[in-house]
Amino acid sequence: MSAANEPVVIHKGLDNVYVKESKICFIDGEASKLYYRGYSIGELAEYSTFEETAYLLIYGWLPTRAQLDDFVKRLHSHRSLEPGILQMIRSFPATSDPMDVLRTVVSALGVYDPQPATDNAEMRIDKAVRILSQAPSIITAFSRLRDGKDLVPPDFNLSHAANFLQLLTGKSPDQYDAHVMDVALILHAEHEMNASTFSCTVTASTLADMYSIITSGIGTLRGPLHGGANEVALKTVMEVGDPSKAEDYVATALAQKKRIMGFGHRIYKTWDPRYVILKKLGAELASRKGETKLFETAVAIEQSALKHLAGSPIFPNVDSYSGIVFHTLGIPTDLFTPIFAMSRIAGWTAHAIEYLEANRLIRPKAHYVGQTDLPYTPLESRTGR
Ligand code: CMC
Repeated sequence: MSAANEPVVIHKGLDNVYVKESKICFIDGEASKLYYRGYSIGELAEYSTFEETAYLLIYGWLPTRAQLDDFVKRLHSHRSLEPGILQMIRSFPATSDPMDVLRTVVSALGVYDPQPATDNAEMRIDKAVRILSQAPSIITAFSRLRDGKDLVPPDFNLSHAANFLQLLTGKSPDQYDAHVMDVALILHAEHEMNASTFSCTVTASTLADMYSIITSGIGTLRGPLHGGANEVALKTVMEVGDPSKAEDYVATALAQKKRIMGFGHRIYKTWDPRYVILKKLGAELASRKGETKLFETAVAIEQSALKHLAGSPIFPNVDSYSGIVFHTLGIPTDLFTPIFAMSRIAGWTAHAIEYLEANRLIRPKAHYVGQTDLPYTPLESRTGR
């Protein structure tokens, strides 16, 4: 029997394949809408905080004051890294990619947990909160050590966003900068069944521990078609360097069939609502800091790309301005994707917990089109291909 002759439908890229029912996130890609647990991303960006949004995603409802206070206390309490973890970060080559560092260290956190595996949802959340709390410490510790700088102790009273900026720079962050960082974290916290969330869900479905689940997500987020796009988008804007060169860049890139980074999305066929918020923040931030050229170059690239791509469903996505925002906050480019991960841990956790409420091992199939019953050739007799 030839497996290749069986009639099958291949869902390459799993486009439009539903793997579960979910109450976590709704994207209306035709109407430029994004909701976390029913709340619009615009309202959350305006009124919520990253801590409250993480609670909303993980537990499913907006917390009361007491619930939020308790969650914030838990989330802020794990900021110090174990001496063994710090020693590990110190041992990494300064040239390491920070995403490799984050992936490796989050995995290692499980080694320091006396009971990493559990089938209890509340304990899973506790472990996720610990990872969420320590991610900023891991990212910033590596960044400072590679630059030959002393580590900054965590401030348990600062917000997740402000603490991250202080750990990174060693300076008390400007209030507006901390607000922008907070909104950026809210915008990146969740996005339905994207590639990294699917990875986490697959890992969760095997009943693996939270460290393995989050480590899977970090590894998947790393690629340039997913979390890595903001770094490439910023590099492009920097290389273009001036608004007057944008049209030439876009026309040449598209003629060579290259993709414009920060454009296009599998779900959004119109404006990504996160892009709208980040572009506004980027403009405000650039003018406050008096560094407008980069922002203006990004706008010029965007306008040219929209002109050339008119009539197609390719619009700017979250990554077209997130890199500019992070760069203007003084964050090194190779920390952008780790920051995305540090925020997305909230969404990954929410999806893992939700999936496990009615778990079924994820095990799709591959349609075999190779040969069968080939005679085994001894090594010495092989002629090679
Ligand atoms: N620039 C130019 N053309 C594009 C782009 C782009 N950014 N994106 C898609 N296209 C074209 C593509 O060349 C193809 O054209 P053709 O049919 O002539 O070959 C057509 O659009 C369909 O492309 P696709 O790859 O089948 O579409 P997709 O839905 O799989 O693409 C994407 C989604 C994000 C992989 C793609 O748009 C892309 O590569 N964008 C650039 C990278 C990027 O910005 N990624 C961040 C995504 S948002 C972050 C997140 O939410 O996780």
